[in-house]
Amino acid sequence: MGHTHDFVPATSLDYRRLAEKRLPRFLFDYIDGGANDELTLRRNVEDFQSIRVRQHVMRDVSDIDTSTTLLGETVAMPVVLAPVGMAGLYSRRGELQALRASDVAGIPFTLSTLGICSPEELRAQAQKPFWFQQYMIRDRGAVRRILERAMANGCTTLIFTVDMPVAGMRYRDTRNGMLTDDVGSRLGRAWQLGRRPRWLYDVGVRGKPHTFGSISDQVSDPTNTRAVKAWVDSQYDPAVTWADIAWLRGFWQGKLVIKGILEADDARAALDAGADGVVISNHGGRQLDSVASTISKLPAVIEAVGGRLEVFMDGGVRGGIDVFKAVALGATGVLIGRPWAWAIAGGGEAGLVDLLATFKRELAVAMALTGARSISEVHRGLIEWDRC
Ligand SMILES: Cc1cc2nc3c(=O)[nH]c(=O)nc-3n(C[C@H](O)[C@H](O)[C@H](O)COP(=O)(O)O)c2cc1C
Repeated sequence: MGHTHDFVPATSLDYRRLAEKRLPRFLFDYIDGGANDELTLRRNVEDFQSIRVRQHVMRDVSDIDTSTTLLGETVAMPVVLAPVGMAGLYSRRGELQALRASDVAGIPFTLSTLGICSPEELRAQAQKPFWFQQYMIRDRGAVRRILERAMANGCTTLIFTVDMPVAGMRYRDTRNGMLTDDVGSRLGRAWQLGRRPRWLYDVGVRGKPHTFGSISDQVSDPTNTRAVKAWVDSQYDPAVTWADIAWLRGFWQGKLVIKGILEADDARAALDAGADGVVISNHGGRQLDSVASTISKLPAVIEAVGGRLEVFMDGGVRGGIDVFKAVALGATGVLIGRPWAWAIAGGGEAGLVDLLATFKRELAVAMALTGARSISEVHRGLIEWDRC
């Protein structure tokens, strides 16, 4: 299906522009937005911008190696595709396209609990292992069954997300009528859909079935956002504690990463509960607005548990120089959420392959111009930051 771009996309923000043109408004806003006034969402990005990199010259940088090891896996760069719900609505079978793109890029892909493609579909269509993300839902038997399916289909690493015992207040969704089902909201959504015929055909029609692959027995129709929200509100377990992580650890045989840590004491608790890693995350500014940026929390968490846990971070990473900054501050690696959602929506699998190649080139250039030839040579002395 031919189409014209009015420009050649280069960066994640370019793909954001393309995504905005392709997606129905409510879907674009669902990806783009954050909680309440979106203060934390902006802070995640701005705090990266306030870190300066120190240039170094004359160090023979003819051979730059961005590869490293994440939780025992050799990867081409310290970047992971974060769990992002409903990617199969951003692009036709979006999770499968992202898994394939991650294979080309040599990095891990994480399938969300709220993914459209099932673990079985990924396994059947692409022979690449993936990471899987799970929330704690009230029915522990269901949690166990979902994880057993993930493991049987090639999941190596479980990312257990703990920053969503209740859902954050996302007002763009309210304004777009995603949480209501009166005539006005339905007409509003129909109007937005009508303005995106290409998406309607390519994803809306040819991208079916639109079910949550991993939990289709629990909630069937992801396009009924009101029903999804009702399921989340009634089934996500706000009573979850570290004791539940110990229960998980008892049967989950792969690597276990706790996602949604901001404070050092919580990171220590994750270590005590038997985690192999943590992701410093505020859910991309989508949960509690006014919490600190994730990059600003990284140094204290590294100080508390660094060396004993692999410490990842996400939130606000928009290119390879941000990856460099996070690694310089001690992160084992970073996860990216919106950048991959924008790329898959704006340019499909080829778009994401292109964006990930750009991330890698940007990281390699930053390493060359700071005189770091390998990831182990990227260290705190290569940046300046007034915040720590
Ligand atoms: C559209 C969207 C959907 C998301 N869905 C999930 C999810 O299902 N599970 C989860 O653990 N995190 C989810 N997240 C959070 C991401 O995993 C990640 O923490 C966040 O996007 C990082 O910030 P960034 O978007 O600035 O890279 C989602 C984020 C976005 C933007």
